[in-house]
Amino acid sequence: MIIALFGPPGSGKGTQAKSLVSTLSIPQLSTGDMLRESIKAALPIGLQAKSFMSQGQLVPDNLMIELIRERISAPDCLKGFMLDGFPRTVAQAEALDNMLGGLSKRLDAVVSFKVDEKALVERLSGRLVCLACGSSFHETHKPTKIQGLCDNCGGVVSKRDDDSPEVVMTRLRTFTSSTAPVEEFYRLKGKLRVVNAFGEEKEVLSRILGAIGFPS
Ligand code: AP5
Repeated sequence: MIIALFGPPGSGKGTQAKSLVSTLSIPQLSTGDMLRESIKAALPIGLQAKSFMSQGQLVPDNLMIELIRERISAPDCLKGFMLDGFPRTVAQAEALDNMLGGLSKRLDAVVSFKVDEKALVERLSGRLVCLACGSSFHETHKPTKIQGLCDNCGGVVSKRDDDSPEVVMTRLRTFTSSTAPVEEFYRLKGKLRVVNAFGEEKEVLSRILGAIGFPS
């Protein structure tokens, strides 16, 4: 199965992807995580992406398309994968179609997460992320059991640099101007599955599984 999780910053894509990995037995391909790891490792793509990310802008399409082209050719993607944060522009969506066509594969569904803007801002302003395993927590809604440490692996949790109020507003505007049109692209292809992503994480997970026709 090949699916893409689509939605604005803070809509819960990363959180749900972590649960879906074990349920669907396919890897999560998070472009945001891949870029953050490249920055940490001082790889050329990380150096090129850093200033765009810190300002809440999209990394240029050509860099993102090459990153995904290489990743989906890896052996762990043979039986399927879950895109998280890609495609984010219509040009990326078209490139993905071409890449998959070249591999005689096709995208099964795009799950679009719907959450109102007030909740998005509130979720991002309190988000804590584990630096070791990437698990997401929230200062008030989902605090870690031990302050500052991840419940899942014991790693240190901290705020993301791009979760500052000014950068969050830019990311939300970027989503509306550049990424939202991708939804229509997939609606016209009959691949779009819209999911109410507001509510308990387990409820949202069950809605996603229902939307992609997976027995929960
Ligand atoms: P990326 O890392 O992909 O960030 P994003 O899309 O902005 O999404 P987030 O990770 O902020 O949110 P999420 O939807 O995963 O929410 P989460 O589950 O963490 O990208 C970062 C940057 O990289 C971009 O700005 C861009 O510069 C660049 N980039 C990446 N991909 C690119 C591409 N394809 N093209 C160009 N540039 C690209 O949840 C958020 C919070 O909410 C957490 O605290 C969580 O605990 C909480 N939460 C989750 N679910 C619930 C719930 N049901 N109820 C209450 N709280 C919840």
